[in-house]
Amino acid sequence: MQASSLTQAKLSKPFDLDDWQGGNQALKEEFDYPITDIEGEIPTELQGTLFRNIPAMLDVDGHLVHHPFDADGMICKITFDQGKAYFRNRYVRTLGYCREREKGEISYRGVFGTEKPGGWLANAFDFRLKNVANTNIYYWGGKLMALWEASHPYRLDARSLETLGIETLNGVLKEGTPFAAHPMIDPGSADREPRYVTFGIRALGVATRLNIYELDAEATVVKHHAHYLPGFAFMHDFVITPNYCLFFQNPVDFNPLPFVLGKKGPAECMKFRQDDFTKVWVTSRHDPSYLHSLKVKSGFVFHHANAFEEGDEIVVDSVAYRDFPSINHNLSFHEVDFDEVPSSQLWRYRFNLKTKETRRQQLETRACDFPYVNPAYIGRPHRWIYLAAAAPEEANGPNQVVMKIDANTGEQHLHSFAPRGFVGEPVFVARSADAQADTAEDDGWLLVVVYDAKHQRSDIVVLDAQQIERGAIATLHLKHHLPYGLHGSFSRKVWL
Ligand SMILES: [Fe+2]
Repeated sequence: MQASSLTQAKLSKPFDLDDWQGGNQALKEEFDYPITDIEGEIPTELQGTLFRNIPAMLDVDGHLVHHPFDADGMICKITFDQGKAYFRNRYVRTLGYCREREKGEISYRGVFGTEKPGGWLANAFDFRLKNVANTNIYYWGGKLMALWEASHPYRLDARSLETLGIETLNGVLKEGTPFAAHPMIDPGSADREPRYVTFGIRALGVATRLNIYELDAEATVVKHHAHYLPGFAFMHDFVITPNYCLFFQNPVDFNPLPFVLGKKGPAECMKFRQDDFTKVWVTSRHDPSYLHSLKVKSGFVFHHANAFEEGDEIVVDSVAYRDFPSINHNLSFHEVDFDEVPSSQLWRYRFNLKTKETRRQQLETRACDFPYVNPAYIGRPHRWIYLAAAAPEEANGPNQVVMKIDANTGEQHLHSFAPRGFVGEPVFVARSADAQADTAEDDGWLLVVVYDAKHQRSDIVVLDAQQIERGAIATLHLKHHLPYGLHGSFSRKVWL
């Protein structure tokens, strides 16, 4: 089904860059309040807590970070209980956050180019990077963890959002151990327990160590093994099936010299080999010695939607950029020209483990990112993928549209917040709390944070996932804006 003519008209309206910039301002205050300004009705069956992680400290004492990814993480908690909702936000009190608050100035270099004051001389040979704990937030096994892939998680109290300290998973992780921000939660089955599966990568010069972890329902590490991959690897996300993990090693070169000399952040030292193949590593979840690689031209992949096994093949749906969205060190993130930034699209990849044949197919041309599927379908065949997408059908732009796409047929459903609304990752929450329940895959809600430039505030929007064109069934107006966030998750627990 195509978008309605009304929606199409809204989709074609250009956005105003000043409007978009409104969501790029820091939020430094911390709040606690019941959300009372609500249009529509919150479904009473929607019980639980939406956690979001937002790089929100976009300036320190008036000095902008170079890129939002370098900003300290702020956790938001929106609790839904019996048709009511409550908001709380707290910064993660990381070591770096506390130190910079004390000093009142940027005291660390950032992965994405943030510099300490004093020019390159003040930054050269300082290899300390601040764990900004700003990428994702997950509640698992009684632990709420703020995640940033280059270092250890921080644990927070799920009710108060007070930072409790470094999470080591009973000593398995050390301070500074890389621990990915994109866990895959294996929902389990009749004969398999649910698992939190994740990884961490550490560059070792000529090779990269890939650690893979599986946590049981009590957050005990029940599997942990390492592989050594040749060359430099940047891997932000991965996918699982009941039997395998797959990692896309984007073809990038890394020249650390500008970082060493204090002139660039490490992420700015990567160069994407656009015409080269991506190496796809396949590991077994049952045999630690199993490691195979395949090749595919994929583009630059940050995020995957899901994967599943189909005969001898593994099918992976991912969002790929034609080119690495590199960072111009001489521009601040307030000066982004969307026409200059490579856009990303949804693709399907097929990997035949027997013949090593690989195939790919573009599923949609609209620029999009932040893919999400019903969590009960992780690792098994899914139909629906939910994404944040650009309003123009062909050109790049900020995310203003929630898109639902049938990965098998291309059928799509859209709801646009253009021209003055800007959306984040849509989190799918199934109506039924039972992951094994025999219900429709899209029977649930999408929870989306939308920056409303007209009112300079953010809304939490609840969409019926089966009827997203109909728009919000509830719009919860916050008392303030939220900067654009990265990832989040939903817990069935009602943390008031
Ligand atoms: Fe991500």
